[in-house]
Amino acid sequence: MCGIVGYVGYKSVMDILVDGLEQLEYRGYDSSGVAVMCDEKINVYKAIGKLNNLREELQHHRGEFEKSTMGIGHIRWATHGAPTVINAHPHTCNCGNLVIVHNGIIENYKELREDLAKKGCVFRSQTDTEVVAHLVAQKYAQTKDLAKAVREATKEIDGAYALCVMHNDCKNTLVLTKRNAPLLVGIGDGEFFAASDVPAIIKHTKKAMYLSDNQVAVLTPEKMVLTDIDGHEIKPKIELLPWEPVALSKMGYKHYMLKEIHEQPDVIRNILVGKLHAPDEDIILNEVKLTKETLKKLNRIQIIACGTSLHAAMIGKYVIENYCGIAVDVEASSEYIYRRNVTDEHTLVIGVSQSGETADTLTAIKQAKAKGSHILIITNRPDSAMAREADSLVPVNAGIEVSVAATKSYTAQLMAFYLLALYMAEVKESTSKAELTTLKTELMFLPQKIEQILANTDSIQKCAKVYSSTKDFIFVARGINYPTALEGALKLKEISYINATGYPAGELKHGPIAMLDETMPVLSILMKGCVFEKLLSNSEEAKARNARMIALTNSKDEKLDDLFENIIRVPDVEEVFSPLVAIVPLQLLAYYIAEFLGKDVDQPRNLAKSVTVE
Ligand code: M6R
Repeated sequence: MCGIVGYVGYKSVMDILVDGLEQLEYRGYDSSGVAVMCDEKINVYKAIGKLNNLREELQHHRGEFEKSTMGIGHIRWATHGAPTVINAHPHTCNCGNLVIVHNGIIENYKELREDLAKKGCVFRSQTDTEVVAHLVAQKYAQTKDLAKAVREATKEIDGAYALCVMHNDCKNTLVLTKRNAPLLVGIGDGEFFAASDVPAIIKHTKKAMYLSDNQVAVLTPEKMVLTDIDGHEIKPKIELLPWEPVALSKMGYKHYMLKEIHEQPDVIRNILVGKLHAPDEDIILNEVKLTKETLKKLNRIQIIACGTSLHAAMIGKYVIENYCGIAVDVEASSEYIYRRNVTDEHTLVIGVSQSGETADTLTAIKQAKAKGSHILIITNRPDSAMAREADSLVPVNAGIEVSVAATKSYTAQLMAFYLLALYMAEVKESTSKAELTTLKTELMFLPQKIEQILANTDSIQKCAKVYSSTKDFIFVARGINYPTALEGALKLKEISYINATGYPAGELKHGPIAMLDETMPVLSILMKGCVFEKLLSNSEEAKARNARMIALTNSKDEKLDDLFENIIRVPDVEEVFSPLVAIVPLQLLAYYIAEFLGKDVDQPRNLAKSVTVE
C-alpha cells in the first residue's frame, strides 16, 4: 500500500528519498511524489504511474534541489480519488508553507473538510489527506509550534494514519506521528530517516525506533524529541533492525517472485533449526506462552487471516483438528470483525499474517484480545503491529518477501502450523509417539523434495505455455489440499489476471460443472491419501464434459495417463505434508504464465503487499 520516506541531515536528500521509495515499490502504488526544503521554500514534485515518471520529472528541476538536505516522499495507492498528479502526495495547505505525506485513511475527512471549507480552505484534491494539511496549518497559525499543531490536529482526526510533516518556517525539522499505521525513525550520525517500512532505510542504518500510536517525534539533524499526544517527553526505545540489505536484491533472478519461490527449501530448514533436532525428540516451541496445563484443557481455537494467510490457516485447521482433536474455526478477518463474535479467555485466537500489518486482521486480533483470548500471532514480521499485540509470537523467519504474490511466507506459515500442531499433540498426548516420530522424520525431508521440484520445471513450463492463452482456469482438490486449490487459483489470478477459481472437487457437480467444456482447463491436485480415488472420480466427471484435464500428482497410477492431457509430477510425500509439496508447482505455473503474458509479476495491478486499510 502507500509508503513514506523522510530525511533530515547533511546529505543530498533527493537520492535518499527516491531510492527509499523504490525500496517500498513492492507494496503497490499508482503515483508518487516528494517535497524538499530548497533555499527559500519547500518545493513539491509529483507524477502518476511508476517511479520512473517521477525521476523524469525531477530531471527537469535538478538545479533546484541539489543542495537540499531535508525532505519527505510518498508512493500512493489510491483510496480517495483517482491516481492523478493532484491527488498524489505530498499535499500542502493553501499557502503552500506546510507539506504533508500520509498513509492510512482519515475516516471523518468529510466532516473535517466541510468545516475547513467554511473557514476558507480551498481544496484541490479529492483525498482524505488534504484535510490534514489544512487542519495542521490552521493549528500552526494559532500555536506557531509545528509539533503542537500536529498533536492538536490529530486529536480531531478519526482513522488510521502515519504522517510526516514539514513547514517552511522550520527549515531543519520533520514532525512525525502515527495511529494504527506503521512508522519508524532510522537513526544515523547527524541525520534521521523516517519510513513506513524497513526496506526504505535499511541501507543507511539498522538503528531505529518504532513510533507507538499517538506519539509525536520531532527530528532535526542533531536530535530526536519524542512526546506523547499531550506533549510529555518520552524516552525513545531504540532497537536494531533485523533485515540485511542483501535480502532486497533479486540475486540474479528475473523477478523477486521467482527468487522467493526458490528460497523455500532454505526457509523450511531455517524454521526447523532449534525447534526439531531429531524425529524422536520433542518439538521445542518456546514461543508458545500458554502453559502445558492450559494447552491440555484447550478445546477451541479460532484462526483469523486474509488472502494467502487465510489459506495457510485452513490447512492449519485440518492439521490441528487431526492431530490434537481441538475444534478449530477459520475465518477471513474482514468477516470476523463485523459480527458478534463468540470468543473468550478459554479460546486461543491465532492471527496469521505475512506483513503483520493487515488492517482487518489487526482489528480482529484487538477485538479478540479485548475479550480476554490468548493471542498467538504467526507472522513474518516480528517487528510489526500484530506482533506487538501477541501473547505468543511465532515468527516464521522467511526473510523479507518483496513480491506482492506471497510464496515463501505461505510455506513458512504452513511450517509454523505443522510445528504448532505436532507440539500441541505432544503436550496433549493426542497422537501416538510412533506416529509423531514418523511425521517428524518426514518433516525433515521436505526441503529436499521441494528442491527436486525446483530442479525440474519442464512439465510446469510446458503447461504454462499451453494454457497461457486461456481466459478461465479451475483448480480442484479435496481434503487437506482444498486450500491448495484456492491458493493455486489466487496466485494465478493475482499475477496473470486469468479468472481462476478453486473448488472442493465434490462441489463441482453442484453447479460449477455447468461451466465445463473443451475450452476450460481443470487442474486436479491429486495427492495420494484418503481422498485420492474420490478426486479421481470427480476428475472423470469433468473429463466427460470435455474439460482440458491437468493433474498435479505424486501418483504413478497409469490410469492418469488416459485421463489427463498434461501431468505435473511431484515427489512422494505423506498426505498431511502434501500441501507444501503441491503448492510449489502451482506457484511456478502462475509465475510462468504471467511471464509468458508479459505481466508485471512482482507488482500486479491494483494490489498492495501490505493492506493497511480495511
Ligand atoms: O500480510 P498478510 O499475510 O496479512 O496479507 C494478507 C493478504 O493481503 C495477502 O496474503 C495477499 O492475498 C497476497 N497478495 C497473496 O499473494
